[in-house]
Amino acid sequence: MRSGSLQRIRFPTVLTSNDNSGARLRIRIVPLDPSLHDRKSFQCGNDAVDRYLRTTAAQATRYYRAATFILVTVDNPSEVLGYYTLAPHEYRDGELDLATARTLKVHGLQRIPVLLLGQLGIARTYQGRGLGKLLLWSALERAFSTAANSGAVAVITDPAEDSAAAFYARYGFATLHEAPFHRMLLPMKTIAAAYSRG
Ligand SMILES: CC(C)(COP(=O)(O)OP(=O)(O)OC[C@H]1O[C@@H](n2cnc3c(N)ncnc32)[C@H](O)[C@@H]1OP(=O)(O)O)[C@@H](O)C(=O)NCCC(=O)NCCS
Repeated sequence: MRSGSLQRIRFPTVLTSNDNSGARLRIRIVPLDPSLHDRKSFQCGNDAVDRYLRTTAAQATRYYRAATFILVTVDNPSEVLGYYTLAPHEYRDGELDLATARTLKVHGLQRIPVLLLGQLGIARTYQGRGLGKLLLWSALERAFSTAANSGAVAVITDPAEDSAAAFYARYGFATLHEAPFHRMLLPMKTIAAAYSRG
């Protein structure tokens, strides 16, 4: 288990792009509004992540199955620069390995609430400017708030590919299992500690 660092994450609302123009991006992260956000043009380089936004996110939002949050600029609020999705998930007693259950202090519990960071992507043309980090921090901040209100002992995510796993590992996510699919986990206690350090 590699312990990454959440300390490196901060949450600015004005970003300076790393291109030569020095242009500033004034950004916001807002709930998905299917009538406003241009979901069709979004391309992050991962087909499944693109497809979810195009075909599933609006319905999942409408029926409260999952919540989707969109990264936009103040100047162009319909262009999707990135997005993430959070959804509730539950483990039953015995489904988590003993070491993880002990770390999370849920050993012996019948039902173990967690939050699934189901999707996260940044539009290709905006990658490499710190926006992925920003989006992840927003997701974790929101997860922490949800946990404080209704309980969730960890955030889990299923990285679509190895490079995504490397991204999550930078921020402390550790592999829970690799088969039948790769799942990573970050304890809520870790998020809470990073969040309270501010
Ligand atoms: C993974 C992804 C969200 C990263 O977004 P990004 O905006 O390019 O990332 P950032 O610019 O915020 O990078 C933040 C840090 O992570 C690092 N990083 C970015 N992508 C990384 C990767 N694939 N592996 C390891 N580290 C990565 C950056 O070097 C940077 O490090 P620094 O803070 O030391 O400078 C983006 O590449 C993406 O959307 N990929 C396709 C979809 C995907 O794989 N989603 C993941 C889960 S399904």
